[in-house]
Amino acid sequence: MKIRHLGISNIELASAVSSKDKLKRFDFQIMAVMHMLSERMLKGLNEQVTKELFSAYFYLGIAAYFKDSGFEGFSTWMEAQAEEELGHAIRIYDYVFERGGKVELYKIEMPKQEFESPLKAFEAVYLHEVGVTESIYKLVEIAQEEKDHATYQFLQWFVEEQVEEEATAKAVVDKLKIIGDHPQGLFMLDRELGTRVPRLRGLLIQTKE
Ligand code: FEO
Repeated sequence: MKIRHLGISNIELASAVSSKDKLKRFDFQIMAVMHMLSERMLKGLNEQVTKELFSAYFYLGIAAYFKDSGFEGFSTWMEAQAEEELGHAIRIYDYVFERGGKVELYKIEMPKQEFESPLKAFEAVYLHEVGVTESIYKLVEIAQEEKDHATYQFLQWFVEEQVEEEATAKAVVDKLKIIGDHPQGLFMLDRELGTRVPRLRGLLIQTKE
């Protein structure tokens, strides 16, 4: 039986173990069929891993602000969002490995941790997500230019996710604009958003116990 794409039989493969030349040829052929990520695509994906990690840090900074301000529900929502961003980073991290690429992690900047009001904090979230969407779109364009169909396909999940991320943030901004400074409205929205459950936090606390 031939190994798919390689044109090498199992017997040849076995003998290759004892033959350096054949091993080299085998390595080369694996590289050829793996459709490696281009340098540009790899750099873009690695930068996105860092951007997603920053997103987690960004949300945690806002969670801390809300917790400090007595808005437990908003804080919980932000924590859940921070966890989701970690998931996004890992999704890309895994994909780079899967495609035979080398993951490179870059420096993460300090997130903003003070806001004038809940509205300003959620406006910052909305603007942040718009920026992430632009970044994902740039990656999609690179994938198209590099004719990297697999990465193009992989990124479609993120394209859809960003539609949801922007819409969710915008909906909260709109509600906060209607509520204005009314304590009762803020209290109700805080309670509503607090129903979102951060999953990782629960696991970490269980582990500690
Ligand atoms: Fe991973 Fe909120 O974008």
